[in-house]
Amino acid sequence: MSNKDTALAQPIKIGKRTAKNRFVIQPMECCDANPDGGFSERSLERYRNLYEGNAGVIVFESITMQYDSRARDMQLSLQPDNRENIKEWEKFIKDMKDVNPDPLLIVQLNHSGEISGGGEQKRVTVKPLWGFYDDDTPLVDDEYADKTIDEFVRASKILYDLGADGVDLKFCHGYFGSQILRPYNDRDWKYGGSWENRSRFAFDMTEKVRKVVNDDNFIVGSKVSMWEGFPGGQGSAGPDTAVIDLTESIDLVKGLKERGADFILESTGAPSITMALHMPEKGKADDCYLHFTMAKIVKEAVGDDCVVMGGAYSVLNRGKNTLQAVQPEWNSLFHWGNYNIEHGYADMVALGRQSLADPKLPAKYLEDREDDIKWCTACDSCVELLIRQQNVGCVVHNKPYTEILQKVSAEKGRLKLKVT
Ligand SMILES: Cc1cc2nc3c(=O)[nH]c(=O)nc-3n(C[C@H](O)[C@H](O)[C@H](O)COP(=O)(O)O)c2cc1C
Ligand code: SF4
Repeated sequence: MSNKDTALAQPIKIGKRTAKNRFVIQPMECCDANPDGGFSERSLERYRNLYEGNAGVIVFESITMQYDSRARDMQLSLQPDNRENIKEWEKFIKDMKDVNPDPLLIVQLNHSGEISGGGEQKRVTVKPLWGFYDDDTPLVDDEYADKTIDEFVRASKILYDLGADGVDLKFCHGYFGSQILRPYNDRDWKYGGSWENRSRFAFDMTEKVRKVVNDDNFIVGSKVSMWEGFPGGQGSAGPDTAVIDLTESIDLVKGLKERGADFILESTGAPSITMALHMPEKGKADDCYLHFTMAKIVKEAVGDDCVVMGGAYSVLNRGKNTLQAVQPEWNSLFHWGNYNIEHGYADMVALGRQSLADPKLPAKYLEDREDDIKWCTACDSCVELLIRQQNVGCVVHNKPYTEILQKVSAEKGRLKLKVT
């Protein structure tokens, strides 16, 4: 059978639009903006490769609209009041559609909150997280959060006007939109305490984006952490318990859909706290099964007319992994991708690290050229580059990034990232 006949190769409707296949490129922040926050030649080259790779959907990496709250110094940004920056975005979108008109471009919008890092960024917090951030980080108030919603809405409208296909309003990974959702946000303020208050930020933002853009052809959705894996995080039963209770996470995805979300991109874990859960590591690959389950829970909650993109497939590669209790022929990314779609556990398969290892995987799969694929080994050297705020790419398969890691390691030593 040709891969063209498999579930992964079939088109799917997202809102009023159609993705040509079931591959999604995850948003992958790669710290290679120019110093002014615009596109460097390296950023452009990355996206050219992804467009040639022909995934149904490309979720553009996390960008900031508040230049003083970047997560990292070289984060790409959309600066609404900077005409040069807006022109760069316009050119980028047009040039990429010229490379390949098929992938749908969805841009991930973010505010880094207490994860703002690097040079002159202003860190702000909903409530400082135990042991992680200084107690003197300024607390945000109602007005600040209201203003942030307006910034997301304004950026969505700008991207719509420039020709982007949609936005991902980011509610995961401990950034501002996710901190607000956590049970840990038990402060008494407009967006804290009760679930009604904590979900207000996400729900109001989604409603407002829909209203202001006012075109069903524009895709709106969110990447969501279903369970962050630490006490008080999203998906825990209360501000100080580690026990899982997905009631709020399920209500979140349902509520987003009711307010106009066309897709949910599943995530689990929080990279700066529970990293191995978030991006399963080669020594503990089985965590990808938990992500499969979370995607299924989202699918059951949102039903047919909201697309669920399942995450955490990179660790699978072509079957060279440490999965336990599995038939050898079941071991690969393509097996589980097709299986989960066929069984209705997810609609699409999102590729994170694997998209750095080989941005052209979807095209190679669709053309039955699997032998040409460069596989991610889940070594997480790319994560080390991100943490070091260096240009990020695959250290195993792309020499310039191997050299960047060698240089930074010679200067600073290696980081110990995970337990294995
Ligand atoms: C270098 C790097 C950059 C990332 N940047 C983002 C980002 O901008 N936005 C986001 O939501 N997730 C980001 N992630 C998380 C991935 O999108 C994805 O959720 C995670 O890597 C798990 O998927 P995987 O197992 O396929 O890698 C990043 C991960 C890595 C390794
Ligand atoms: S550096 Fe390692 S984890 Fe990152 S994409 Fe390459 S092989 Fe995968």
